[in-house]
Amino acid sequence: MNRRKFLKSTLAAGSGLVILPSGVLSGANAPSNKLNIALIGAYGRAKAHYKGISTENVVALCDVNEEHIAIAAKEFPNAKHYVDWRKCLEQKDIDAVVCCTTDHTHAFVANWAMNRGLHVYCEKPLANSVQEARTVRETYLKNRHKIATQVGTQRHAEPNFNRIRELITDGVIGELKNVRAWGNRQLPKPGYLPEQGSPPQNLHYDLWIGPAPFHPYNPGYFIGDPGANCLSWNMYWDFGTGQVGDMGSHTMDIVWNAIDAKWPTSVKATGDEFNPDVSPVELTATWEHPANDWRPEITVMWYQGGAMPHAPKPYIDLNQIGHGAMFTGKNGFLICDFNSRLVLPYGNDADLTYYKPRKKDDLIPQMDSFQGEWINACKGNLKTSCNFDYAGLMIEQMMLGLVAYRVGEKLDYDGPHGKVLNNPQADELLSKKYRTGWVLDG
Ligand SMILES: NC(=O)c1ccc[n+]([C@@H]2O[C@H](COP(=O)([O-])OP(=O)(O)OC[C@H]3O[C@@H](n4cnc5c(N)ncnc54)[C@H](O)[C@@H]3O)[C@@H](O)[C@H]2O)c1
Repeated sequence: MNRRKFLKSTLAAGSGLVILPSGVLSGANAPSNKLNIALIGAYGRAKAHYKGISTENVVALCDVNEEHIAIAAKEFPNAKHYVDWRKCLEQKDIDAVVCCTTDHTHAFVANWAMNRGLHVYCEKPLANSVQEARTVRETYLKNRHKIATQVGTQRHAEPNFNRIRELITDGVIGELKNVRAWGNRQLPKPGYLPEQGSPPQNLHYDLWIGPAPFHPYNPGYFIGDPGANCLSWNMYWDFGTGQVGDMGSHTMDIVWNAIDAKWPTSVKATGDEFNPDVSPVELTATWEHPANDWRPEITVMWYQGGAMPHAPKPYIDLNQIGHGAMFTGKNGFLICDFNSRLVLPYGNDADLTYYKPRKKDDLIPQMDSFQGEWINACKGNLKTSCNFDYAGLMIEQMMLGLVAYRVGEKLDYDGPHGKVLNNPQADELLSKKYRTGWVLDG
């Protein structure tokens, strides 16, 4: 019995007597049902995970910045240290990985970890291209009987997410027609930063670049506060995907949770003039999604960086909601942000007789904590709200939007096969080119 199977069987056995195989004793807490976690990307956003994972054994810390490892090591003194996540994943006693690195390495770390049978919590965005999203999802689907995954869209734990799903699927606005989500963040940049100075000794810059095409060092990529440094690099095509991947991961999650969608059949997008270095500040993307068993076909739209949908009435100012969504149905609108919602019945037929509020017992159960849901899932039923199936499909849609923006044409998409049907140039843009030696699905 390996350690991971043991963790699950001890939990399943409840209070039953368990005979310990050798090699599962872990320090002062033995015999333990704690996970052995590798924290990859150990500072910045990772700080928000320190408390949650401190209930487990953090056995490995990996960061391209040795000073950041030193900070994390104060929290987790028993962990081994690595600067290269590929080496880190060779450590034999790891059960689970929390990945808080740059966006352009998320799909790599996630795939490699899952291919080694490890549970993964990966910060958003899960992927930087359509192909990365599909590969991560497929690797997860192959392994879903033994691993738990979660993408770091922790706002999903807001009770508002469940209430919106209930209202939409129970028909408070009648038959669903379309959904629009938006975000107002603007991070304009002219292009990649020019070479300036050399990386400090503590920073393994070549590993930071990792699979991306090489760009010379500039301290400007590292000037953000801990947890916000991603805003120093995530708008550059080779490191991130701008706001559609960043806040889009959180905000589209409100929508995705309520529409039960898989692949769109078409996509079109417009925005700023194309810049080969920097993703667009302003972007509007439109996807058509086929009908499912409870709603007709719908249009889903994303607006960012200044583009905004029209409000249904002049007395509603959608600009007051920095990141939000609006669902349009036959009988009204539901407007929301992460933790509040507004229902606007609309039209002469909007008498609400078609809608019955749920009884308390029928409400969607509330999770305790988002990170906790994943830790429990690793030890038990493997069920999480934002697994790589759910979140993989969502980020695939978003990345497809960027492809449509780049070619400037409406694209027909064959989701099951991951093919653009009417534009070979767009088909090529579904994937990225990596530096020699870096393998996405290793
Ligand atoms: N869920 C949220 O609300 C939320 C909030 C902030 C950031 N994030 C996400 O977290 C990630 C990190 O953001 P950040 O602002 O902390 O960025 P950051 O630039 O500070 O990087 C985080 C840490 O990862 C390290 N790192 C970078 N590349 C690495 C690599 N290849 N291997 C190992 N370590 C590496 C950095 O040195 C740093 O310590 C981003 O993907 C971002 O989208 C999520």
